Amino acid sequence: MTDLIEALRTPVADEGTGPVTIGMAVSRVDGRDKVTGQARYAAEHSAEALLYGVVVSGTITKGRIASIDAGKALAVPGVIEVITHENRPRLRSFDLFYKDMTAPGGSPFRPLYDDKIHSSGQPVALVVAETFEAARYAASLVEIAYETEAHETCLLDHVERSHKPSRLKAGYTPPPEPKGFADEVWDKALVRMEGEYYSGVEHHNPLEMFASTVVRGADGHLTIYDKTQSSQNSRWYVSHVFGLSKNKVTVRNPYVGGAFGSGLRPQYQLALAVMAALKLERSVRVVLTRQQMFSFGHRPETIQRVRLGARPDGTLTAIIHEALAETSRNEDYVEVVVNWSGQLYACEHIRLGYKLVALDRFSPIDMRAPGAAHGVHALEVAMDELSYELKMDPLALRLKNYADLDPTEGLPYSTKELRACYEQGAQRFGWDQRPGEVRSMREGHELIGWGMATGMWDAMQMFARASAVLHADGNLVVSSAATDIGTGTYTAMCIIAADAMGMPLERVRFQLGDSTLPVAPIEGGSSHVATVGSAVQGVCEKLQKSLFKLARKMPDSPFAKARFEDAEFAGGALRLRAQPALAVPLGAILAFDGAGRLEEKYMMLPNVLKQQNYMRATHSAVFVEVRVDEAFGTVRVTRVVSAIAAGRIINAKAARSQIIGGVVWGIGQALHEETQSDDRIGRFMNHNLGEYHVSVNADIHDIDVVFVQEDDRIVSRLGAKGVGEIGQVGVAAAVCNAIYHATGRRVRSTPMTPDKVM
Ligand code: MOS
Repeated sequence: MTDLIEALRTPVADEGTGPVTIGMAVSRVDGRDKVTGQARYAAEHSAEALLYGVVVSGTITKGRIASIDAGKALAVPGVIEVITHENRPRLRSFDLFYKDMTAPGGSPFRPLYDDKIHSSGQPVALVVAETFEAARYAASLVEIAYETEAHETCLLDHVERSHKPSRLKAGYTPPPEPKGFADEVWDKALVRMEGEYYSGVEHHNPLEMFASTVVRGADGHLTIYDKTQSSQNSRWYVSHVFGLSKNKVTVRNPYVGGAFGSGLRPQYQLALAVMAALKLERSVRVVLTRQQMFSFGHRPETIQRVRLGARPDGTLTAIIHEALAETSRNEDYVEVVVNWSGQLYACEHIRLGYKLVALDRFSPIDMRAPGAAHGVHALEVAMDELSYELKMDPLALRLKNYADLDPTEGLPYSTKELRACYEQGAQRFGWDQRPGEVRSMREGHELIGWGMATGMWDAMQMFARASAVLHADGNLVVSSAATDIGTGTYTAMCIIAADAMGMPLERVRFQLGDSTLPVAPIEGGSSHVATVGSAVQGVCEKLQKSLFKLARKMPDSPFAKARFEDAEFAGGALRLRAQPALAVPLGAILAFDGAGRLEEKYMMLPNVLKQQNYMRATHSAVFVEVRVDEAFGTVRVTRVVSAIAAGRIINAKAARSQIIGGVVWGIGQALHEETQSDDRIGRFMNHNLGEYHVSVNADIHDIDVVFVQEDDRIVSRLGAKGVGEIGQVGVAAAVCNAIYHATGRRVRSTPMTPDKVM
């Protein structure tokens, strides 16, 4: 297994980094490889006689392909084949029902399956050539005639045919049954608010394009470098779709240049690249363009209605939150949206609703903090609106309704240091200096406003295995088929192992990104540290015990009469706590045994019986200052304090970076990001980074991150919950609330562009 190190280019910390402990700020072990271009991504792996595939995207939104003429394309020198639904290989499983592990309920999209067109930009052909340039040119020459049908892509036009999600997905948690009599109580509430909120479509824009390089071995074995959040999910998909046995396919993803959920499902370039490799018996690479990355999933457009009722003292009496979101015709994509509204504030009467409208669009897909990014936004803007109805400070309103038990189930929280987030965040921000009146702060031509919001995200743990091999040279190699989508998995796992074994960081390597490694879940839901990290800690503890047993057998062993508890692992050695001078280097213990290596395996199963008795979540309090130009309606987010409770932090540096990234994206959600659809033709129009705006350096000012103390041994044996998604939740709401405080204008849709703010 350790021979994968070179194939995967497993990174290692710089010599001299030395000992590390959990919670330290540690630079990425893969940082040098990344900034020097040594880290290779899916499209950067090569093969002998590699062929290049370029995808031809359909130009209609709904209908069928009447005819395809590939004659001119095939005449281009270097072009080998044009694969379409008419000549694709018939494959054992391709025409059967198949899914990837993360598929929503329904029937997944099958590229080049038949003549039907289901959504704009659907792939209709793959041109394969000896060079990328020939393939790209030939792709422009493929002539396709269509028969079009009427399409429906506008959510607002079709709200009347909404349905409850029925084609269910494993792990889908429908909104809980109503609690109490929310509608009646709201009707009679002395203080109440009602708001309708709209969030447009957003697209993931990771730096790395989706790509698959299929390297075909002489024996027909396929080694596939794929951009994915799980090598094992892509391997499973390829095996099932193409009827290839597990040992005929290896998928690798040692480096992934961002994904944010878009890589949770295998995307269509993978199926097309494998199809070409099998049909032509060659190695093939397919890379999508930025435009094509707007054709396979997005954060769905969502309409929400929130009603809150309260007593004059601020006690919430009713919460009603209903959401309507788009899905595709073939699948019920669910992100629930409303569930957090039953988990955040103490309230006796709660009713939550969630419905879908099927449109002629590609299925939506998870995008960072799916559901919460839009759902908690609406709730937290509504809470701000209520605070003005009550003439109460927005933070005081949240504290008044602080939930010590989960309001819908009555369960205790595994840990919940949200109160500390409020306190420490408010103090860092200077919230007590905030004037209550709107339009009360101004500097020159800018109005200044301060707003805040709460964030919440699930704290999940899945199942994982890990293995660890200690070598006589004192190096440790830990492995699991985990993924690092830029989040810092390599470094976090090395820290956990180095901390457990008392080894310098540079003596530890963590292998991930290969489907043949021990089972790991998809990197998603901010669950990787709690899951894979716990498996890594578990395997290291097994290794410690085996090493201790060996050490006791050494001639004149200082441990002969010691108990395991009397010993500790530190400085790359085993030593007695009482006599630290009597240290035996770990390598020497192995050398005595003669084996030269010691291997352990561990399987980490979440303690579901225990976990199910608790509400498990991460929390945040976000404080924002905006400056709004009165004449232009432009908004600058000049100051953000994000206070986070996410369990024990493994790498203070990477965790802070994750939260900063989330805040930046929250600012994008608030001010910039929206994919606009021309519903007359049913197409996303701004499918490029020139017109799909994301936050850039000029938009980002001061971001201060606070981690409050929290240690959660129910979510994971490490005490960690997980950071990443929690960083984004609530940020856009805090911006919205700050804009209101600055201007007195309530903007109930995102993004809050100048035309809405003015
Ligand atoms: Mo994340 S949206 O679970 O990759």
